[in-house]
Amino acid sequence: MDMDKLVSLCKRRGFIFPSSEIYGGINGFWDYGPLGVELKRNIKEAWWRDNVQMRDDMVGLDCSIIMHPKVWEASGHVGGFSDPMVDCRECKGRFRADQMTALVFTDRSGPQGATNPRPLVFSAIGEREDVERENAKAIEKFKKANAAQADCDPDVIRLDNLAITDELYALVPCPSCKARGTLTRPRSFNLMFETNIGALEDASSKAYLRPETAQGIFANFKNVVDTGRVKTPFGIGQIGKSFRNEINPRNFIFRSREFEQMEIEFFCHPEESAKWYQYWRDQRFQWYVRHGLRSDRLRLREHDANELAFYSTGTADIEYSFPFGVSELEGIANRGSYDLTQHQKFSGKDLSYFDEERWERDKAGLGLTSFKEYVKKREGEPQPGYPYQYIPHVIEPSAGADRATLAFLCEAYNEDEVGGEVRNVLKFHPRLAPIKAAVFPLVRKDGMPEKAEAIYRDLQRHYPVFFDEKGAIGRRYRRQDEAGTPFGITVDGQTLTDDTVTFRDRDSCRQWRVPLAGVVQAVRDLLEG
Ligand code: GAP
Repeated sequence: MDMDKLVSLCKRRGFIFPSSEIYGGINGFWDYGPLGVELKRNIKEAWWRDNVQMRDDMVGLDCSIIMHPKVWEASGHVGGFSDPMVDCRECKGRFRADQMTALVFTDRSGPQGATNPRPLVFSAIGEREDVERENAKAIEKFKKANAAQADCDPDVIRLDNLAITDELYALVPCPSCKARGTLTRPRSFNLMFETNIGALEDASSKAYLRPETAQGIFANFKNVVDTGRVKTPFGIGQIGKSFRNEINPRNFIFRSREFEQMEIEFFCHPEESAKWYQYWRDQRFQWYVRHGLRSDRLRLREHDANELAFYSTGTADIEYSFPFGVSELEGIANRGSYDLTQHQKFSGKDLSYFDEERWERDKAGLGLTSFKEYVKKREGEPQPGYPYQYIPHVIEPSAGADRATLAFLCEAYNEDEVGGEVRNVLKFHPRLAPIKAAVFPLVRKDGMPEKAEAIYRDLQRHYPVFFDEKGAIGRRYRRQDEAGTPFGITVDGQTLTDDTVTFRDRDSCRQWRVPLAGVVQAVRDLLEG
């Protein structure tokens, strides 16, 4: 699938526009148009319904975007939420060093095979597979141009590798203007957007736009436990905007500076965290499959031990093969007790959880009457209240609503042939489709528009629907195919005689007749069945 075609369809049909386009756009920001807003809303609603509303062990939350700056010190974002950044002094381009590689070929063309390291090609900035693909192209090019050295494999060095010598570094060309010796050494660049609260613009008023929704959940853990009648294992879900001053926003809505996250923090007993990690990994993977990501473009990748954060005992990425490479759609991490412990330390508040039910069950067997007695007996131990009182371990399935939107768009995009003509069709899962059905009078006479409008009004009370009476019926079908509308309903000549309408299926183009009185129920059966 061609990414440019999808981007152009999204613009043409009103899914996604560049932000502030009349002023030339603003890099890393996007607006959702009339169809896009419905699609993304359906994705968020499906996520919320399946992960919060329909589960007895989940509750929801909606936190503020700007929080106390200490939240971000505790979480590690102030100190460590940064990417290594490289600037080009020539073209002023700015790149992420961890997404840049140089290929160093050993030139054996000298007399008697004398060798000199010769950095030949810098390769792409971009997601992992972008870089791998660009590198493969560069190697092939080198081998073609240097047939005598066709067996020469280059060393691949990432530009954030501090061991690269200055001599070698000076030979790496800028990925944009190709000038050599113009790249700065990597510098740490914090991705958080800063702002000031109130009239004063000094250090005391500094605040941040949240770079993830997760910390609002941790900061409210105690509030939810104290008020929500929740018991471990339980989770808190949140959907909301996050902001990151990405060095290289790229690949349409895949990596932007303002985006939406759908995050769960699932709190459980430390002994059960491995089990819940497996559970959420599989659960979240299946959620995408159920909503239409059925192809082998979707995969689950367990991180190697050397990729894990020091506090994590397991992390997996749900990845999707986008046209620009395989990249992360959602991460699921077993974060242990790291986050709550950090917030306990920085806030000075007790964020431990007391499992009253377990204590009540066990106390008689232990020959004790009060929990205080139990703790007293174990005084001096690191966790005297354990296993009844503990900092819960956390499983975090963290998804991006925009990345999910992009994946569903990519998967839905199809070009096929109908009646000898190529058509673009978005084969969305009906639950996600922005418009559920379109109603058409075949012609604008003989009472057909009135009958069609009555059907439209009836359906509108239940679903987002569309009414279109302009142009040839084939063209109207085609427009709805591009919008991803699963069903077309046409009032035609036969309707006037037998009170039935034509239903048309978007994917197969199959047509059948349904009695006028049963249209709403038929749409319901098709969407929900
Ligand atoms: N609380 C964990 C966390 O934020 P992350 O891997 O940095 O983890 C989680 O982000 C998800 O948020 C990603 O898998 C992705 O779907 C989405 N996301 C992150 N940065 C993004 C960006 N710049 N643009 C769009 N989506 C992004």
